[in-house]
Amino acid sequence: VAARFGGGPLAGKRVLLTAGPTREFLDPVRFISNPSTGKMGLALAHAARSLGAQVTVVLGPVGAVARDGLDVVDVVSADDMAREVLARVGAVDAFIATAAVSDWRPETRAAQKVKKGTSAAPEALTLVRTPDVLAEASRQVAGQPKRPVLVGFAAETERVVEHARDKLERKGLDAIVANDVTAPGAGFGTDTNRVTVLTRAGARHELQGSKHEVARALLELLLVTAS
Ligand code: CTP
Ligand code: CA
Repeated sequence: VAARFGGGPLAGKRVLLTAGPTREFLDPVRFISNPSTGKMGLALAHAARSLGAQVTVVLGPVGAVARDGLDVVDVVSADDMAREVLARVGAVDAFIATAAVSDWRPETRAAQKVKKGTSAAPEALTLVRTPDVLAEASRQVAGQPKRPVLVGFAAETERVVEHARDKLERKGLDAIVANDVTAPGAGFGTDTNRVTVLTRAGARHELQGSKHEVARALLELLLVTAS
């Protein structure tokens, strides 16, 4: 309701997000990906919208999801995601990277379906790194007079806080939301989440609940209270 009447604590703010997985095709029928469903990112997008923000989501392949009120840019690969984000990040107030971007892609993409052939073992697949969308976005806005607030997510399975702090610093972020994806009630495809938020200023917050509750709390913490 707040959004419809142009009010809300994030009225007039532009928020850009990435969400979902990426797909890195090796031929027309096969790809490398991961189990991300985009739920946390879309929960954040809808929460930002309901707080009054104008929201753009650069979204990997996730199937049917609620898009009402959001400006959704559909992408497939990490390269596509990087291009769409870098075209927009200079003009927003906040960029929140929730996507599970594939870190690797096949070096080449065959034009036709790769056949089994006659050999018993598959041919080796050569992989190359994809662009780091968040790190590139951070570098691109680094010199800007009014830099957007930059928030990353860290999906970890061990030494969660240590790895997340390292990413916060390495990517030049304002905050990182660390997720132990092996913990009960957290991770890929679940409706709940348990996260640790680390800020550049050194604060640490633990949040838990439904992905919608966590989304709302994160925005309050990182965008509303901070602005
Ligand atoms: N990210 C991104 N582009 C990539 C890889 C990651 O934008 N190619 C973003 C994610 O959206 C997330 C943050 O960077 O906000 C951290 O992602 P994560 O996979 O946890 O970290 P990596 O830097 O890829 O390191 P690793 O996978 O080795 O832990
Ligand atoms: Ca990664």
